[in-house]
Amino acid sequence: MYHFAPDPDQPKAALYAELVEAAQALVSGERDPIANLANLSALIWQFVPQLNWAGFYRLQDGELVLGPFQGKPACIRIPLGQGVCGAAAASGETQLVADVHAFPGHIACDAASRSELVVPVLRDGVVLAVIDLDSPEPARFDSDDAAGIESLAALVARLL
Ligand code: SME
Repeated sequence: MYHFAPDPDQPKAALYAELVEAAQALVSGERDPIANLANLSALIWQFVPQLNWAGFYRLQDGELVLGPFQGKPACIRIPLGQGVCGAAAASGETQLVADVHAFPGHIACDAASRSELVVPVLRDGVVLAVIDLDSPEPARFDSDDAAGIESLAALVARLL
């Protein structure tokens, strides 16, 4: 059994540092990428408040394919360049979207989503996957959330 008890009221930098430390502990000794991504999606869900979806899409044969996640069932395949996830994968850059309704081509997997953070997982400059976080709160994510999930993405890059 794993027991993590994050304090959601601590500063975001501290929360994400704790999240990455917990992630390292969770994946150490396990090589199966699906098992590790499944546990990491559960860890994000436990640590990061005000989410309605959190998980992974992996880049396979030129398109994003749904990976382990928490939340409602979601779109399975996303072409490069489409939606927020496709934009992150095509550009290799983090997408911080305060209002998903204002993002051209946003793909609504859960109608409750109002804001979104998508971080690419890069190894040697190549996109392997994206980490997608959705919130029912408008403008839920800021640069501290982006930096925190980017540090998790660096860890994820070593798992794929
Ligand atoms: N909203 C995303 C699609 C994935 S779901 O949110 C889980 C997008 O526009 O790419």
